Amino acid sequence: MKTVIEQKNLFCLPWTQTILGTHLEGKVNFMALDWLTRANYDPPMLGICVSKNNASHAAILDTGEFSVNVPSVEMVEITDYTGLVSGKRVDKSELFEVFYGELKSAPMISDCPITMECKITQTVDLPTNSFFIAEIINIYSEEKYLTDGKPDVKKTTPFLLTMPDNRFWAIGECVGKAWDAGKALRKRLQQEKVE
Ligand SMILES: Cc1cc2nc3c(=O)[nH]c(=O)nc-3n(C[C@H](O)[C@H](O)[C@H](O)COP(=O)(O)O)c2cc1C
Repeated sequence: MKTVIEQKNLFCLPWTQTILGTHLEGKVNFMALDWLTRANYDPPMLGICVSKNNASHAAILDTGEFSVNVPSVEMVEITDYTGLVSGKRVDKSELFEVFYGELKSAPMISDCPITMECKITQTVDLPTNSFFIAEIINIYSEEKYLTDGKPDVKKTTPFLLTMPDNRFWAIGECVGKAWDAGKALRKRLQQEKVE
C-alpha cells in the first residue's frame, strides 16, 4: 500500500555534493551546492540551481562564470561549512588553495579531485531560485584519481547528500554495469517475441 509523503519537494533522491566557486565583488567565494544536473551533451553543459538569497547568486549574475568542485570524503567538514555561512557576512576566500583555468572568475579548489570551470549560457528565473545553465569549459583532475585516463570514483571518493534527513553518504558497492546490465533481459524478451 503506497503512502503519500507530505513534503513534496524533491527530497527523495541522493545528490552528489559539490562546492560552487565564484567571484563575489572581486573576492573568491564558495558555497555548498547539490542541485546540479547534466544539461547538454555537445557542447557539454550543466545546470545548477541557486537560491536568490545566496551571495553566490549575485556573484554569478555579475560575472557569468563559476566553478563546480567535487570534494572527496575527507572534505565533508569544510564542505558543509561553506553551506552554513554566507559570503555576505563571512570571508570564505581563504578556506581553500585555488587555481584558475581559462576563465577569470571561476576559482577552482586545488584539493578537490575533480573541478570544472563553467560559463553561463542561459538563466531561468524561478520564484525562489535561478537555474543557471552553463557550458563546461574545462574539467581538471590529477593522474592519481584516474583509471585508464578517466575519473575513478574509488579514487576521487565523492559523497552524496540525502534530504530531508540531511546526511552525507559515501558511495557503496558497484551493483551493475550501465548500458550492459539489461542486455540479457533485452535478448530474452526479443526471443520471446519471435517465438
Ligand atoms: C549540504 C548543503 C547543500 C546545499 N545545497 C544548495 C544548493 O544546491 N543550492 C543553493 O542555493 N543553496 C544550497 N545550500 C545553501 C548554501 O550553501 C548556503 O546558503 C550558503 O551559506 C550560501 O553561501 P553564499 O551566501 O556565500 O553564497 C546548501 C547548503 C548545504 C549545507
